[in-house]
Amino acid sequence: MHDGYKKSFSGVPALWGVDFELKAGEIHALVGENGAGKSTLIKIMTGAYRRDSGVIEYDQKTIAFQNPTEAQAAGIVAVYQEIQLVDFRTVAENIFLGREPHRFGIIDRRAMNARAADILERLGLHIDPHSVVGSLNIAHRQMVAIARAISFGARVPCSGLNLLRMEL
Ligand SMILES: Nc1ncnc2c1ncn2[C@@H]1O[C@H](COP(=O)(O)OP(=O)(O)OP(=O)(O)O)[C@@H](O)[C@H]1O
Ligand SMILES: [Mg+2]
Repeated sequence: MHDGYKKSFSGVPALWGVDFELKAGEIHALVGENGAGKSTLIKIMTGAYRRDSGVIEYDQKTIAFQNPTEAQAAGIVAVYQEIQLVDFRTVAENIFLGREPHRFGIIDRRAMNARAADILERLGLHIDPHSVVGSLNIAHRQMVAIARAISFGARVPCSGLNLLRMEL
């Protein structure tokens, strides 16, 4: 990002001159008191809000997402703290919800579970793809949500963790 990222709500500044760089493979933590602007920044990065000024450069191109679907297509996904998973479905079903692999017109559960196991293993997670999401603890549910983001080919998954119970 360059030129200082700015965003105001009804004239009240929420972000003022944000400028930072992310490189492949890096993990960053965004820390700040309540109302500091963390959520606002993530929402702008992922197309949920429009910025007032400033630019994002991504892969040497200037980008401006109109909505989260466009950001997702570019590989930038927000995994919100209020986890958006279906509790009574399995881990694999959640990861591939709406994009289940099919064979002969029906869901290919074997392929779906194998692919989910693959992603979970890549992330170093010891979670059984057959487990029902509702039976997992919060940390593991959050990991499943991240696995889902990764399965979309996400290169910049933005995740809110329960650090100090701070809400992203
Ligand atoms: N939709 C909105 N309309 C008006 N003001 C907003 C809106 N969203 C955020 N703000 C204001 O913008 C500022 C930054 O809020 P933001 O939610 O980004 O902070 P945060 O760092 O995520 O805080 P928290 O730790 O409480 O989640 C705050 O002053 C907040 O009141
Ligand atoms: Mg927040």
